[in-house]
Amino acid sequence: MNYLVYSLVFLLLPNHSLQTDEQNEINYGVLIGKFNIYHHGVGGDVYAVNTTTFFIKSFNYDGMGKDTYFWAGVDNQPGMQGFIVPDRYGRTNVLRKSDNEDFTLTLPDGKSIGEIKWLAVYDLKSFQNFGDVYIPDGFEPPGVAKLTMTIRSDDISCDQVLVEDLKSLMFERLYVFAEDKELYFWVGKGHVPSIRGTRVPDELGYLDPLRNYGNEDVKLVLPGEFTFNNIDWLAVFDAKTNTSLGYISFPNELNVPPNLRQVIKYENTVPKCEQLHANLQIGWDIVGQTITFEIVGLVAENDWLGFGLSGSENKSNMIGSDVAIAFMKNQVPVVHDYKIDARAPCSSVLDVHRGVCKDVLTGGSDSYQVLEGRRKIFDSNYYEILISHRSHERKVNSKSDEIYSGNQSSLSMSSHVNQFSY
Ligand SMILES: *[C@@H]1O[C@H](CO)[C@@H](O)[C@H](O)[C@H]1NC(C)=O
Ligand SMILES: *[C@@H]1O[C@H](CO)[C@@H](O)[C@H](O)[C@H]1NC(C)=O
Ligand SMILES: *[C@@H]1O[C@H](CO)[C@@H](O)[C@H](O)[C@H]1NC(C)=O
Ligand SMILES: *[C@@H]1O[C@H](CO)[C@@H](O)[C@H](O)[C@H]1NC(C)=O
Repeated sequence: MNYLVYSLVFLLLPNHSLQTDEQNEINYGVLIGKFNIYHHGVGGDVYAVNTTTFFIKSFNYDGMGKDTYFWAGVDNQPGMQGFIVPDRYGRTNVLRKSDNEDFTLTLPDGKSIGEIKWLAVYDLKSFQNFGDVYIPDGFEPPGVAKLTMTIRSDDISCDQVLVEDLKSLMFERLYVFAEDKELYFWVGKGHVPSIRGTRVPDELGYLDPLRNYGNEDVKLVLPGEFTFNNIDWLAVFDAKTNTSLGYISFPNELNVPPNLRQVIKYENTVPKCEQLHANLQIGWDIVGQTITFEIVGLVAENDWLGFGLSGSENKSNMIGSDVAIAFMKNQVPVVHDYKIDARAPCSSVLDVHRGVCKDVLTGGSDSYQVLEGRRKIFDSNYYEILISHRSHERKVNSKSDEIYSGNQSSLSMSSHVNQFSY
């Protein structure tokens, strides 16, 4: 591969990023109703996220009340008897003006939505109700659903599966014996699991074959636009035999909390792309003797992204690898080429460099050229990256390459790697 010239485009996304509201069908929970509007332009839709939390969509209020709060109570109508519901920041300050804003509100002191009769925007000085919404009798807020796994093999067991929200579930005491198999978490549609499904990342976000699990609690989050409403089953599937060891079937109407994380749509600048990890994508384009790579990662401020040639012919191996590490330094994109021959910081003994060393120290040269590097900032608590497309058409080299991610202070600590070939 030495004759190839690399060029690199990379993009660092922050850990906290935001959705846009473009996709319809975003689930905010169970709709309770719209605020009845009495004064000061109060308006918005009120959803129940779970037993304690509301999602308020497009909230409006002109901010002109003197001593106005979110106010809830158990009487038949909003009045002086009630309690303050802390604002979106968890504070009990006087409400400010709001212009079509979306946020969550959590009831204080472990109170539940089922216990209260109404939520209002109420002024404690004038005893005026500016707007309210009533909780219907017998209202059932979304909650965790308990399902059981259908077992098809002695090599798997699981006590139960908790569906925590529309995209997250927890296997309780999952046991999987993975030797001699090629297992994946696998989702799809239809009555029972079949080869017509999609691999989903494991609990760490990797798409590698599953390891052994020894009665562990394992949490999975569905990627992209998958939710338990648009798939019928999630299986532990063996790609060697095309059979499932066990699976969970999802009922049609799961009354579970929404997942308020949102999807960032990312347009790749190169034609080929592979999702390697929940937070990591590699794209590439080959023109003549030049490969342009695009690495996109959802990482924190001081994180780096890396990828390169594996130390092994046929698997991902950190020792013996040759990797490019990309990061932003004072808003300038930087890429360094490293040779890794030990899991230790670079050190030199008698002029021989061992460890994670810059290529230039070991007689190589920085053979990457940075084309572009960007950091995109979104401002919300929710993030997720969308798999925009994947394609595997062109195989020019059977060598496995690998991707690392980590931060600048822990380069030598990085251990989990992922495979791809192009
Ligand atoms: C309800 O949802 C909120 C926001 O997602 C979360 O902070 C809270 O822990 C949840 N409460 C319960 C009881 O699940
Ligand atoms: C499993 O399915 C794949 C794709 O349909 C097929 O190529 C492969 O031969 C199948 N393997 C077995 C063991 O049936
Ligand atoms: C991986 O490569 C090594 C040496 O390069 C070889 O001995 C081994 O058989 C290979 N394993 C597989 C599964 O191909
Ligand atoms: C970098 O990663 C190491 C190991 O994962 C971790 O202990 C350390 O806190 C991280 N540092 C920063 C600044 O994120």
